[in-house]
Formats: sequence, structure tokens, C-alpha cells
Amino acid sequence: MNIKTGFIGYGSMGSMIVQGLLDKKCLQPQNVSISTRNPAVLTTLLDKYPSVQVAESNRALARECNRVLLCTSPLDTVHVLSEIAGDLQVDTHLVSIAACLPIEQITRFFPGLVTRIVPSLTGEMSSGVTLFCHNTAVTNKAAQEIEELFCAFGKVVVIDEENFEVATDLTSCGPALIAVLFEEFARAATRHSTLSPEQARALVIPTLSGTARLLEEGYTMETILTRVAKPGGLTEEGVKQLQSDMPFVYDTLIQRTLAKYELRKTNVIKEADRLLDKKP
Ligand SMILES: NC(=O)c1ccc[n+]([C@@H]2O[C@H](COP(=O)([O-])OP(=O)(O)OC[C@H]3O[C@@H](n4cnc5c(N)ncnc54)[C@H](OP(=O)(O)O)[C@@H]3O)[C@@H](O)[C@H]2O)c1
Repeated sequence: MNIKTGFIGYGSMGSMIVQGLLDKKCLQPQNVSISTRNPAVLTTLLDKYPSVQVAESNRALARECNRVLLCTSPLDTVHVLSEIAGDLQVDTHLVSIAACLPIEQITRFFPGLVTRIVPSLTGEMSSGVTLFCHNTAVTNKAAQEIEELFCAFGKVVVIDEENFEVATDLTSCGPALIAVLFEEFARAATRHSTLSPEQARALVIPTLSGTARLLEEGYTMETILTRVAKPGGLTEEGVKQLQSDMPFVYDTLIQRTLAKYELRKTNVIKEADRLLDKKP
């Protein structure tokens, strides 16, 4: 049976996922349907893949597809769930990429096969990690099929939902957190030299990608430290400083993001309560 895959929302992540899966031929264009608030954003995609279908509405897409990916913001996702719940088939596989929206809340609207995933911008490079968590209704076959699709974006890692938020810091927030770290490294260099910001970035960015490649090719963090930071040498001074300061920086960072996740989750749950209370 051909699976018809529908995508609701075509923003930053929705477009990355749709384009990636089509470009890598993981999905056939004729088996893809999209519904998004402003269909004008689909023009470039439709020029390239004219057989991709644009659904008449979110509800029509829910009726026509047996795998539906929700690629909207967390609050919008609750609204979309409320809108389409009655149109989903009982054996539809519903996949949400919304942060701060636990599976337990999704199943209040649709008590079927539900998978929650966290993509990352690094997927554009077919690299990085997509986090996965399935509810118990998801069959092994459905889990395997959706996980295989997302191998197009790098590694797929299935984890307990209770660790989703911290893991999201490492994977999905990671590109921004790593970018700011290296930007600050470059800025510090300009405060202690006549290097311009551009020159400092031109030195640190290849160092970042070279270090990532060393790690990919089998170096561990420890081997890199041993090879570069010799006892009593100058690198060791920098390493000692970071080892002293960074635990506090990262503990505080994770505490702050966790507090924000909780706040967002509370707001999303309140909205879900409100929408479900309104139902007959
Ligand atoms: N950005 C990331 O790096 C990232 C990483 C991991 C997870 N996520 C999660 O991914 C989800 C989407 O994030 P994003 O960055 O892609 O957001 P985005 O760029 O704002 O995209 C959301 C898309 O959904 C559309 N939309 C909103 N309400 C809709 C509705 N009722 N029906 C149909 N389409 C609707 C929006 O249309 P308009 O353009 O007209 O508003 C937009 O195309 C979020 O839940 C976020 O938590 C994001």
C-alpha cells in the first residue's frame, strides 16, 4: 500500500523536511500533500514537484492521508489538532514536531498512533540528530517507516519523552548555542588583538568544522585534549579556565531553557483544556 504523507505547516522546519524527503527521493511527489496557512509559499516547491498536492484544507488533508506530520508552532498545533481530530482515520500515523507539546496532550485529541519528533536545522546538511518518541499504539512497522524517512536528515535517536527537553537543547537548540559560543570566542580574540571580527571568524569557523570532522572520524573528546593540550602548555591554561567556568554556564543555561519549556507547556496545556472543554 502506498502511504500518502500529509504535512500541515510549511515554515522553516516543514519546508526543510518536505524538500529534504523529496530531493532525496524518500517520498514520491504524488504521495505528498501539503496544507499551510499561506499556500503562496509553496510556489517554488510546486515548480520543482508539480505532482505534489495542495490540500483544500487541514481537514481535507487529514481525510486523505494515512500519515500526517504537524509542522506548526506548539499553540497552532493544538488548534490544528482540535480542527482535524474528527477527520483522521483510526489507523493514521500522526507525527508532531511541536516542542512543548507532550504525546499525552496530543492523544487527548487523537487516541491513535502518535509519534513526537524533534528535528534540527543540521538536517539541511543530512547531519545531526532527529529525536523520536512513539506512543504504545505505534506499531513496529509504522515506527520503522517514519524513522527510516528521517535518516535522510542524519541520525535518528529514540529516547524517553521525559528527556526530550534536555536532549532538545543538545540537538535542536544546539546549532544556535554552538554558533553563539564560537561567535563569543571570535569576539574575545578581537578584544585582545588587532584581528577584525571577520578575520577572527575566518580562523575559528574552519577550526570548528575541522574539530567536528576529527570527532566524526573516530577521535574522542579525550584524544583531542591529549593531542592538543600538553601538560604545562599554553592550551592547558585555556582548558583549565573552561573546565572551571563552563559547568556553571551550562547548568544555568539548561535551567533557563527547562523553565521556559515548562512555561510554554503550561500555556499549551491550558489552550488544549480550553479547546476540549468547548467540545460537546
Ligand atoms: N525552527 C527550529 O529549529 C525547530 C526545531 C525543532 C522543532 N521545531 C518545532 O517545529 C515547529 C515549526 O517550527 P518552524 O520554525 O518551522 O515554525 P514556522 O516557520 O513559523 O512554520 C510554521 C508554519 O505553520 C503554518 N501554520 C500556522 N498555523 C497553521 C494552520 N492553522 N494551518 C496550516 N498551517 C499553519 C505557518 O503559516 P504562516 O507562515 O502563515 O504563519 C508556517 O508555514 C514548532 O512547533 C517548533 O516547536 C522547530
